[in-house]
Amino acid sequence: MADAEHIIWHQTTVTKADRERRSGHRGAVVWFTGLSGSGKSTLANRVEHELFKRGIHTYLLDGDNIRTGLNSDLGFSAADRKENIRRISEVAGLFVDSNAIVLTAFISPFQADREAARQRVADDEFFEIYVKCPLEVCEKRDPKGLYKKALAGQITAFTGITSPYEEPPAPDLIIDTSEQRLEESTQRVMDLLEKNRVIG
Ligand code: PPS
Repeated sequence: MADAEHIIWHQTTVTKADRERRSGHRGAVVWFTGLSGSGKSTLANRVEHELFKRGIHTYLLDGDNIRTGLNSDLGFSAADRKENIRRISEVAGLFVDSNAIVLTAFISPFQADREAARQRVADDEFFEIYVKCPLEVCEKRDPKGLYKKALAGQITAFTGITSPYEEPPAPDLIIDTSEQRLEESTQRVMDLLEKNRVIG
């Protein structure tokens, strides 16, 4: 590990405030959490598209994508999931500093890790969206056939089956994808960002 004592933060000439003034919107993390198959990626994609149409600088970090590159060395043990979320939180923090609205779609099953992600940025820059969906519905959707494999014992430590998911106790928004339509859910996230003056 690097000797932290000898690392000195370099203040850049162009600041976050400069970027904010130019873009006319703030940076923020919109953190989608929920079971596999709950609809995190679908909703995050849709929200990103809405923001993009408004000329907002966005970026979407998605579980499977990040795990093929940056986090390809990590598996699904509790320790690896923690490290997965820690690295993503750091990346998300850098994106916020670049004044982007970064959307993240990770199961992020542990409350402590999500809380640490929140702490990485300012209080008014983090929005936790709990993409809630009953396990039975996720199992039925099974878009990647992973529940079938997990139930057959072919995948170890699968969230909801053999690995826990801790529900967020106080998310900024709960979207039940078994009841709400995508349009309506997208609008609710946009409303949240408007209400909190992230976007105008
Ligand atoms: S975590 O828990 O936040 O670290 O997981 P994440 O980085 O979001 O990765 C979840 C995607 O990995 C696939 N996958 C698994 N998920 C859960 N448990 C196990 N054991 C597992 N193995 C592979 C799966 O496609 C998840 O994607 P989503 O989009 O959530 O279905």
